[in-house]
Amino acid sequence: MSTKPILAASLVAFALCLASQASAKSITLPPDSAQLKPSSLEGYAKAQSNCVACHSAEYMLYQPPTAPRPYWDAMVKRMKAVFKAPIDDADMPAIVDYLAKTYGNEQPK
Ligand code: HEC
Repeated sequence: MSTKPILAASLVAFALCLASQASAKSITLPPDSAQLKPSSLEGYAKAQSNCVACHSAEYMLYQPPTAPRPYWDAMVKRMKAVFKAPIDDADMPAIVDYLAKTYGNEQPK
């Protein structure tokens, strides 16, 4: 019981050591899940100004990739209704479009 955290910690240290050796030759950054995925859709900029003020973009990543458009629509409305997110109603369709195509079931295969 008491040795497990130590074992876990040393495994993490070992993994970090391997990772730093790997990056000594070529620098490959892991996908930064704290940022919204860049996109040419107009909703990307709107989501950046409306959706990551209170929490990181990781929240989008933890949603099911099979989530259909109405799911994202409800999510955006819920953010506004429940958490008082200052989202302009006019920006919602673009944001929902971006979310469905970037994190939901309309992602390019
Ligand atoms: C005013 C603050 C605020 C803004 C702005 C905001 N959210 Fe949230 N969001 C929250 C809070 C509070 C939670 C709840 C949860 C927590 O931290 O446990 C949450 C949770 C979520 C979750 C996790 C699933 C869930 O149902 O709890 C997702 C996905 C999400 N937000 C997406 C968005 C999107 C998309 C936008 C932009 C349209 C947005 N949020 C804007 C406050 C905000």
